Amino acid sequence: MDNNNSNNTPEKKSFLRLPDIYRIDYSKPVPFRQQFAFMATVLVISCLLFSIVYIYQTFRSGTSQVAGAEASSSAESKDKKESKPDKKKENSSESSKSSKKETSGSSGKKLLTKVSSSGKDILGETQTVSKTDSDIGFGSLVLVNKDYSSRYDGENIKLIFEEKSDSYVLSDNTVGVAGDIITNINTMLDDFQSLYGESDIMIACGYRSYDTQVALFNDEMDDESDKWVAPPGYSEHQTGFAFDLDLDLADGGKAGINYEGEGNYSWINENCGKYGFIIRYPKGKEDITGYGFEPWHFRYVGAPHSEYIADKGIAFEEYIDVLHDHGPDNALVMDDENGTSWCVYYVAADEQSDSTDVIVPVNYSYEISGDNVSGFIVTVKLS
Ligand code: DAL
Ligand code: ZN
Repeated sequence: MDNNNSNNTPEKKSFLRLPDIYRIDYSKPVPFRQQFAFMATVLVISCLLFSIVYIYQTFRSGTSQVAGAEASSSAESKDKKESKPDKKKENSSESSKSSKKETSGSSGKKLLTKVSSSGKDILGETQTVSKTDSDIGFGSLVLVNKDYSSRYDGENIKLIFEEKSDSYVLSDNTVGVAGDIITNINTMLDDFQSLYGESDIMIACGYRSYDTQVALFNDEMDDESDKWVAPPGYSEHQTGFAFDLDLDLADGGKAGINYEGEGNYSWINENCGKYGFIIRYPKGKEDITGYGFEPWHFRYVGAPHSEYIADKGIAFEEYIDVLHDHGPDNALVMDDENGTSWCVYYVAADEQSDSTDVIVPVNYSYEISGDNVSGFIVTVKLS
């Protein structure tokens, strides 16, 4: 009879029982195969933990990049210029002049963004403001592209020459933009001039009426013109929030756009976000925007949106998609470079009614813009 198993019942297998290789008899020297099994297990678990941490960090950092990186040279774009496409011109003299100085570039500081767990906690007391369906087409965050036409046509336009600073010139005195953005243009181009001491910057084009776009579009028709010129009614220039930079060279700016955002001028493309502007048609986003890379075409969207778009290196279309995922209850909260805090959220238009109640804070200043797609974006200044 076996004394070690006197009742003859087989040893029960426990669910938690370790495989035999991991069961150590401490009364004997530990066999090599057991030592090896432990080492291998520790190594596998370490690798797994490292991989999880690495994937998490990669996911968190996302696709962040400064939009200025988009503003690199574009040889192919030299041959296709909005406004005066049939009079093309190389800008080699400007490139060599620009390269004499170092560019300062952007500070590289990122916009701090978080998602609020409850916008209502952040906004405090709220009320609603009624907006009509037609309001969806108005405001500095309207998306205008080949799918969404402009509902603006000149009502918000001011002539730049009436308020411009001396740090740039205009192609002529009829150039206008949405009145509110002239201050931002002045500040950006004044800062550029202060940094570099001289400037050949010219604003070639701002607001374009529907009729002007018709003429431009008809003038431009060739195989590739839809890559550079919007169909009438679908140009951002019709909103007054867009303008094209040119360089005031010997041709007087009349022979095509010379501005490439290179050399010293890359400072403008890298820093325009701090002044409320974005490069609306960035390099690498052609499939999303529907247009070729246009380093000369600037669009006002205002703070903090311009900084967010630059930080993330995304197209305006992508930003509107991001906003559509953030209602008042999971608003985006952003601290910009100046330490100003913002809360941004989307309110979908009420499909059952021709007006929408938009939630707004009682105790903070805010702006409501239509997105020209499906609703309203509320931008709240928290500090
Ligand atoms: N160049 C831009 C797409 C326009 O024509 O509005
Ligand atoms: Zn343009």
